[in-house]
Amino acid sequence: MHEIALSPQEFELFRSYIYERVGIALSPQKTTLIKGRLNKRLHALGLSSFGAYYDYLVADTSGEELATFVSAISTNVTSFFRESAQWKWLESYMPQLVAAKTTKKLRIWSAGCSSGEEPYTILMFLQKMLHDFEAWDIKILATDISHKVLKHAMQGVYEPKQVEGLPASIIEGAFEKKLNAQGHYQISQALRQKVLFRHFNLVTDPFILNKPFDMIFCRNVMIYFDEPTRHDLIGRFTSILPKGAPLFLGSSESLTSHRESLKLLGSSIYQRL
Ligand SMILES: C[S@@+](CC[C@H](N)C(=O)[O-])C[C@H]1O[C@@H](n2cnc3c(N)ncnc32)[C@H](O)[C@@H]1O
Repeated sequence: MHEIALSPQEFELFRSYIYERVGIALSPQKTTLIKGRLNKRLHALGLSSFGAYYDYLVADTSGEELATFVSAISTNVTSFFRESAQWKWLESYMPQLVAAKTTKKLRIWSAGCSSGEEPYTILMFLQKMLHDFEAWDIKILATDISHKVLKHAMQGVYEPKQVEGLPASIIEGAFEKKLNAQGHYQISQALRQKVLFRHFNLVTDPFILNKPFDMIFCRNVMIYFDEPTRHDLIGRFTSILPKGAPLFLGSSESLTSHRESLKLLGSSIYQRL
């Protein structure tokens, strides 16, 4: 398979399109990465130049090729109970949250949910923390730019190695029996029904969300965004978070703006002031 070259002019087309559509700021040093990661895709599509691929990308109004491009240059890596310090913090926050509630209703957004481990972890956690879990009206909104990961997330099927390190009580409460000869596990239907998976581009889609969230998770999503894009997104999260509610970022992410409306509580957890 011969390698298709990527000229500086072609790189510039991708750079400006990807920045505008996804907020990812590609520096010229990423030329080799794009060329390397996308060559296979061009061959699969039967295209002989990056210019032709650019036309294909822009013409695809479904956004699916954009998601393929983003997946090729970034990562969908995730896992159950990722960022353990944050779950520890949530344990101590839950009594306060429950006491402040006037109805048994919880609304949580997992923004950039990848293949579903994050929203399902939220439910596993709540199952453990709320003695009357069944009595609560719980809905998790789980969104991602990639249709591919959303499809996986909706099925909720995971490999044994992803599941078997979890405590037995969690496995028993959250998963159906092993599905097949490979021993895959599936999230129980009761839990899957509590998650609303939606395709959503955090950079370009409007936040038409009129119900307030009790908390928002946007972890390890903004790593590729530049500062103005991060600033804008955090501002929009802030505008829909009620006072006192937490915003969870990835452990390598921190805020450099919005300090007047978000207070750092530790472990990349911010509280709406
Ligand atoms: C590394 S994963 C993080 C998954 C999970 N939040 C976690 O921390 O384990 C990043 C996810 O963000 C999604 N993503 C990247 N840019 C996005 C955008 N502009 N809008 C929505 N999702 C985006 C990717 O498709 C990917 O699934």
